Amino acid sequence: MAYQRAASVLAAMMVLFASIPTGVQSTGVCYGVHGDGLPSAADVVQLYKSNGITAMRIYVPDVQTLLALNGTNIGVLMDVADENVPRLAASVSAASDWVKINIQRYLPGVSFRYIAVGNEITGSATQSIVPAMKNLNAALSAAGITGIKVSTAVRMDVLSASSPPSFGRFKDGYMKDVVAVINSTGAPLLLNVYPYFAYAGDTKNIDLDFALFQPSSQVIRDDSFNYTNLFDAMVDAVYKGLMHANTDAPIVISESGWPSDGGVGASADNARTYNQNLINHVGKGTPYRSQPLETYVFSMFNENRKPGAETEKHLSVAPRTTLSVAPRTKRFVCLPTCGTQT
Ligand SMILES: *[C@@H]1O[C@H](CO)[C@@H](O)[C@H](O)[C@H]1NC(C)=O
Ligand SMILES: *[C@@H]1O[C@H](CO)[C@@H](O)[C@H](O)[C@H]1NC(C)=O
Ligand SMILES: *[C@@H]1O[C@H](CO)[C@@H](O)[C@H](O)[C@H]1NC(C)=O
Repeated sequence: MAYQRAASVLAAMMVLFASIPTGVQSTGVCYGVHGDGLPSAADVVQLYKSNGITAMRIYVPDVQTLLALNGTNIGVLMDVADENVPRLAASVSAASDWVKINIQRYLPGVSFRYIAVGNEITGSATQSIVPAMKNLNAALSAAGITGIKVSTAVRMDVLSASSPPSFGRFKDGYMKDVVAVINSTGAPLLLNVYPYFAYAGDTKNIDLDFALFQPSSQVIRDDSFNYTNLFDAMVDAVYKGLMHANTDAPIVISESGWPSDGGVGASADNARTYNQNLINHVGKGTPYRSQPLETYVFSMFNENRKPGAETEKHLSVAPRTTLSVAPRTKRFVCLPTCGTQT
């Protein structure tokens, strides 16, 4: 059953990922698990491998996933589960235990890149973010582990203003402390950015094509640049916030995607268009920063058990899979980029 699902998902993904340019190392896919009937972690890792997807974001340190990632070279962005952030903030020894259990045990076989201390944490819980980041950095360094960058994943509402991009400023005091930490370690800020939700919240003023990276008559005029897509404008607003906070820390896009159902402008066609255009676009960076923007597309699977808006449940990169299941012998349909197959 798991194989069959994996095969059908994979067949559908070909539509989306057929034109990932070879050699583009910067595109990953998020692996959220709040859906029914998902393949096993081992099958999911196989799916990434056979599609040449070189990076994965996971939201908890899941043992089966980490074991399956062992020896794969898939770069990993891994979250500290939000509910554990206060505990890690409380002591270095709690952070050391976490590092031992969730990182050290899997080295060197798992290619950890980033640890996200919380995903879109808001309200008073934000107080724990910076102490937990510091304790994790201390724990990693005490364990002699280098090369894993500790950061936090934020969304656009960390800004008090975002349009035009040059107005970008962080709203809350804790972001100044986040910036000080990542500035000193060379970690990126992790940004979840969804032009879709901006569009859906203001369809009167935002052109759908502008949000989809399609040719559009809409332009956001700013001091230095005219923005021809919403994604660049949003990301540059956060870059401006960083610059204003006196850092040249980079950004990694820790989530971006488009729903295939559940709201205005949500369709399989639009999701496919957005994801493909996103993948094609991020290699060029944004007007403020022209280097390739490492990006994690959200998400591998639809997540019907996710709370919140209906659109949140329909963010799979393989929306509305209706293709027939591939025969058992052709379990892994291969893309041109995926090399030898079994
Ligand atoms: C990862 O794979 C290597 C090589 O097969 C093995 O020695 C190691 O025990 C594995 N790590 C874990 C955590 O299972
Ligand atoms: C970031 O690091 C640079 C270079 O070390 C330094 O000049 C700058 O003041 C730092 N910014 C912050 C916010 O700490
Ligand atoms: C943006 O476009 C307007 C109208 O075409 C043009 O006058 C202006 O010079 C452009 N600004 C930049 C920064 O390119």
